[in-house]
Amino acid sequence: MTAENIYLIGLMGAGKTTIGRQLAKALKVPFYDSDKAIEESTGVDIPTIFEFEGEEGFRVREQKMIEKLTQLKGIVLATGGGAVLREENRKALKDNGYVVYLQCSVDRIMERTRWDTQRPLLKTDNPRTRLHELFEQRQPLYLSCADFKIDTGVLKSKTVVSHILEEYKAVNHEDT
Ligand code: S3P
Repeated sequence: MTAENIYLIGLMGAGKTTIGRQLAKALKVPFYDSDKAIEESTGVDIPTIFEFEGEEGFRVREQKMIEKLTQLKGIVLATGGGAVLREENRKALKDNGYVVYLQCSVDRIMERTRWDTQRPLLKTDNPRTRLHELFEQRQPLYLSCADFKIDTGVLKSKTVVSHILEEYKAVNHEDT
C-alpha cells in the first residue's frame, strides 16, 4: 500500500494538532487542520458555528472541507474528533491516505481539555460522562478507518511521531 498523505483521527484532546505539526515538519510537507481550515473559510470560530448552525450545520461544513482537503497530495491532515461520524468522510480518508488513530484515555483527555473553551461538545455539566459517550460511540468508527493506532496518553509526542513515521515508511517501502 502506498499513501501520499497522513490523516490523523481521534477524540478531541488526543493530540492530533500537536502530533500532526511535528509529523509534517519531519516529512517536510504542509500541515492542515480541518477545524482551522473551516474557521479560516468562514471567518468565525468553531463555537460560533455551533451556536448559529448547530452541530448539524458544522458537520455539513466539515464534510465539505474534508472532501476538499483529501484531494490534496502530500500533506498531513488533523481532522476534527467527529469527522469519522459521516460515512463519506470515512471513505474519503481511507481512500486517500494513511489513517492514524491517536487513541487516548478519557482521564488524560479530561486533564488536557480542563481549561478549554473552544470545544462546544464539552460545554456540559459533566464533560467526563460526555467524553465516555463519545468514546463508546466513536471508537468502532476510528478503528474501522485506521491503518495504524497508537496511544497518545502515555507516550511523549516525539516518541509517537517516530513510531508513526516508522510504520508509515514501512508500508510505503521507503528508507527510514
Ligand atoms: C469535535 C471536535 C473538535 C471540533 C468540534 C467537534 C467533535 O475538533 O471539530 O468541536 O465532534 O469531537 P478537535 O478534535 O480538534 O478538538
